[in-house]
Amino acid sequence: MCGIVAYLGKKAAQPILIEGLKRLEYRGYDSAGLAMLNGGAIKIKKSSGRISCLEEILDKPDEAEVLGIGHTRWATHGEPNTVNAHPHLDYTGKIAIAHNGIIENYGTLKTWLQNKGAKFCSETDTEVIANLIGYFYAKGNGDESNSQNKFEWAVQRALHEIHGTYGLAIVCSDFPEMLIGAKKGSPLILGVGDNEYILASDAAAIVEHTTQAVYFTDNEMVIIGPNKFHTKTIDNVTVSKDLKEIEFSLEQIELGDFKHHMLKEIFEQPKALSMCMRGRVDRQNGKIRLGGIDRYLRDLTRTKRIIISACGTAFHAGLVGEFLFEHLARIPTETEYASEFRYRNPIIEDGTVVISISQSGETADTLASVEQAKERGATVLGIINVVGSSIARATDAGIYLHVGPEIGVASTKAFTGQVTVLSMLAIELGRRMHLSSTEADSYIDELSKIPDKIEQILKQSEEIKKIASANIDKNNWLFLGRGFNYPVALEGALKLKEISYIHAEGLPAAEMKHGPIALIADRMPAVFIATKGPQYDKIMGNIAEVRARGGKTIIVATEGDESIKEHADHLITVPDTPEILQPMLTVIPLQLLAYHAAVLRGHDVDKPRNLAKSVTVE
Ligand code: G6P
Repeated sequence: MCGIVAYLGKKAAQPILIEGLKRLEYRGYDSAGLAMLNGGAIKIKKSSGRISCLEEILDKPDEAEVLGIGHTRWATHGEPNTVNAHPHLDYTGKIAIAHNGIIENYGTLKTWLQNKGAKFCSETDTEVIANLIGYFYAKGNGDESNSQNKFEWAVQRALHEIHGTYGLAIVCSDFPEMLIGAKKGSPLILGVGDNEYILASDAAAIVEHTTQAVYFTDNEMVIIGPNKFHTKTIDNVTVSKDLKEIEFSLEQIELGDFKHHMLKEIFEQPKALSMCMRGRVDRQNGKIRLGGIDRYLRDLTRTKRIIISACGTAFHAGLVGEFLFEHLARIPTETEYASEFRYRNPIIEDGTVVISISQSGETADTLASVEQAKERGATVLGIINVVGSSIARATDAGIYLHVGPEIGVASTKAFTGQVTVLSMLAIELGRRMHLSSTEADSYIDELSKIPDKIEQILKQSEEIKKIASANIDKNNWLFLGRGFNYPVALEGALKLKEISYIHAEGLPAAEMKHGPIALIADRMPAVFIATKGPQYDKIMGNIAEVRARGGKTIIVATEGDESIKEHADHLITVPDTPEILQPMLTVIPLQLLAYHAAVLRGHDVDKPRNLAKSVTVE
């Protein structure tokens, strides 16, 4: 949700900022802008629309402009036009900032600043930060004995007045060789190259230049000058930082031969899940090793209750986790939307374990739910993809997905990665608690076969495209599943909505009778997940109900199920696997269906309307 990138080094900053913004574009793409320092002047260029629109209005890069900040926006306050685009200049014209986050008390601060004579021209909350820094900078601290840099002091002073979240890149025209970054609740990383620095919302904008990075915690700021940087808290206490290696390569975030990141990520799943299981699934000894949470496994086997908190696709993975923990380990589990959990005054008894699931590790609601759970004394574990992210650092311990960076806004490999981690954890807990060693061995064995089975399903991509094409004129779809495949139905509907803008509802199949069945008419597509399992006969009944009312059935069935063919207008098959592992297979055709439908409708699959990859605001 908004991407910021800033550069200070020896090269012309403009092309580096534009390249960085393109790599961050998945975080927001409704407007963009740059602020370049040239001698004692700040030059700002902004545009509504994508980075490509901004590029069209830029002059040739100036080799003398080696410091600049850039921003790609996902609007919260104020419509996505040029005036509201970042960077924002303060009323004195000396300070420019790019901001990711939300300032909650901006109304009060705006009135206060207006009374002091500050002028505002945008509708954004961000302009308040620029003006606040500008105000304190102009006023000065009035203490002659204070030798602290005036710009640095003004930033600290302003940040103390702000309630809310921020990742900030700030420049001042009086200091053409100084860049300041600050962070609270929104991500910020500093890439440290050879006498050059790239400050960005995430590592994707950095890896092309360096793999050495500094991660910050909340209320920290970094002051970068030519050939050096130092980190302090906003209370002016120096903090020493180690350089960390960024764990992914440029290749992982490039499209290669694929047309879209989403398609690449769908096809990457066999490899991604193998990476996720590598070193963890020990078939020989019938064990699962999850180093990150070793110390907490005993707590988990004794816990009376697990609460899973997550948003969006991660919430659907959490629902699969609920089924897994209850079925395999017999631990009562509830999955909560993080946005509800954080405001719900939840009951957290002694020994409750909260598991937070997030691809980005930055989702504001999920992060707040972690804080809430910690305050109430729960042990909080994370299932996160992005290493070093805010949620990863806020939790007591966790398991990284290791599925590589996910760029497509619609989550795919992160979902299967999350379900793989939850399956590994549930099997291991089950093995320690209730399962016989034969059962545990057989699940471990089956789990390790999942990547090859996904490879088989992917071969049906062209067939699935034909199914999407045959139904592309339909504007309402149902997705229905039971048991472990009920969360997959929710995920299938979400995927279709997100990128093809087709209205879709996901339901536990039996619930259809209690309302949604009224919608079925005119060959309305109903996607059934009807793989072999304990509820197979029941779902066959639901399929009959849809057909009897003129609906069209798209059925995901188990390979070799001959008898289901006559009930399907369209059939997609997946290899057989135990019911508890089916979500990792049954979701694949639904991802492909949504992808092809979106392409057929001519949408920008990787940057769907109104969405952002990482939702760092409430
Ligand atoms: C956004 C994304 C979804 C994602 C959700 C949670 O809405 O568009 O794809 O599932 O956030 O994100 P997280 O990073 O916490 O998994």
